[in-house]
Amino acid sequence: MITLHDISYLRLGCRDLDQMVDFGTRILGLELRERTATHAYLRGDNSAFNLCYIQGDERYDASAFEVPALADLAQAEQELSALGIAVQHGDEAACEERRVDAFISFTDPNDNRIELVYRPHVTGVRYFPSRDAGITEFGHFGLHSRDIERDLAFWTEVMSARVSDRIGDGALLRIDEVHHKIALFSSDTTGVQHVNFQVASIDDVMRAWYFLQEQGVPIVFGPGRHPTSTAIFIYFLGPDNRVYEYSSGVKRITDEAGYVPRHFEMKPSSFCMWGARPNVKEFSE
Ligand SMILES: [Fe+2]
Repeated sequence: MITLHDISYLRLGCRDLDQMVDFGTRILGLELRERTATHAYLRGDNSAFNLCYIQGDERYDASAFEVPALADLAQAEQELSALGIAVQHGDEAACEERRVDAFISFTDPNDNRIELVYRPHVTGVRYFPSRDAGITEFGHFGLHSRDIERDLAFWTEVMSARVSDRIGDGALLRIDEVHHKIALFSSDTTGVQHVNFQVASIDDVMRAWYFLQEQGVPIVFGPGRHPTSTAIFIYFLGPDNRVYEYSSGVKRITDEAGYVPRHFEMKPSSFCMWGARPNVKEFSE
């Protein structure tokens, strides 16, 4: 079993880096930490970065998870290789590009690009938001799944994720006490399905609702409250056509031994207990 300590970062390809830097700072409220001709590093906490936009193929993405020890990378390579999954080692330049000490990369059974990283760099400089969005941390991300049962088996038997709740075919997975840090959504494609940042309170979610509308950002779902994680949320669309989310109040599962996942019916009310209706297919019936 490969122990996932935490989510680490997302690498997101884009066609227009300037546009994504503008969205990341002026709309999302992230801090632009570093920028090269091809890479922009943005963050909503004290990590070196949470999102790295990369000029080029807009379909490219990769999701990274931190492992606790260097030896875990070698063990992960063994376990993945035994399953017939090809593993690449990050060289020094690739580690530098990712601000980590070491990493391996592979594609999961859904062809999602996954990176396991050791010692992602943390700064001693606090996050300085570019707008007062109220972001407290990089919360979680969704991954597409073309075969949920296959991918669930991978994430819970090969990787150390645990099911917190199911909604229809979908699955919300935890890797620590936070209700979910990975969400698997039934889909016909691969890669990152949505990107979440936690905000401090319901006030930040509601401020975002008005702010995003003023800025002409398409709202795709919410404001609402998830009956699964109890988080209050709003989802909106970036210029890269990816779905972004702010949420607040995600529940923690502290009774690890006694917790039993619930299976919510596949209805909009399982995604929002207030009655909000999504206009993206992942959250619909
Ligand atoms: Fe989410």
